[in-house]
Amino acid sequence: MQTLLKVSLFLALVTSGASLECETCFSNGTTCAGDKKTCLGTEETCIVILTESTVDGPSVTKIEKRCSTISQCSMPPFYFTLGAGRRVRQSWVCCIDDCDKVVPVLIPVQTRSNGVMCPACHEWKESCKTEMANCTGMETSCFKITSHVDTNGTHVDRTMMGCTTKYTCAAIEGEATNFRPMSSEAIQVAECTHSMGSRSSGLLLPIFSGLLLLKIIS
Ligand SMILES: *[C@@H]1O[C@H](CO)[C@@H](O)[C@H](O)[C@H]1NC(C)=O
Ligand SMILES: *[C@@H]1O[C@H](CO)[C@@H](O)[C@H](O)[C@H]1NC(C)=O
Ligand SMILES: *[C@@H]1O[C@H](CO)[C@@H](O)[C@H](O)[C@H]1NC(C)=O
Repeated sequence: MQTLLKVSLFLALVTSGASLECETCFSNGTTCAGDKKTCLGTEETCIVILTESTVDGPSVTKIEKRCSTISQCSMPPFYFTLGAGRRVRQSWVCCIDDCDKVVPVLIPVQTRSNGVMCPACHEWKESCKTEMANCTGMETSCFKITSHVDTNGTHVDRTMMGCTTKYTCAAIEGEATNFRPMSSEAIQVAECTHSMGSRSSGLLLPIFSGLLLLKIIS
């Protein structure tokens, strides 16, 4: 009897130690509250993700809290633009016990054109008509994302093309990616092309980003 009690106590301890629980919520604004959910075995941390988007009109800020794999914690923030002032910034902070106090900081809006241009567009369709956009700041890559959202049994596609940073591209092209710029949407195609599509631009880009870095540092 005593042994049995010890064994079950031991099991209870092991189980509680092994399964992480994270508050899970998604909302407009910069705060949200929700129930704690048990994370999957592959998810070692909680995460708080802040997204600001001007893609659908005036600036909208959204917050999400959930479980995450540890690999997202050290990734640089996401930043991309779709031309015509449309922009998405996303930052996150990993946390375990102190998630209530955590507020991710968005990287500053970049306004200075850097000479790179990308075909850019945004439409609630499977494809969209592009116009060349001037990339800004650290944006040295072009990207395309098609996604869809299912609300109330209605399937809506979205296509976004534009400029982004090489870090965001790495996440877009990454295999086990956490790339979910619009949390509620399922990504169908996400790809990066290097600007203008000419062969030489691929060679020029690294030099160009070196210059950019120098500009930013000085
Ligand atoms: C979030 O904010 C946007 C813009 O202010 C508004 O249109 C939308 O209805 C809000 N959504 C919710 C769920 O409150
Ligand atoms: C891009 O930059 C060039 C040079 O500064 C400017 O002439 C052009 O109007 C800009 N294009 C857009 C779409 O802003
Ligand atoms: C979903 O459909 C119901 C019934 O038609 C409607 O009342 C509700 O507002 C809809 N929800 C959304 C998010 O569109």
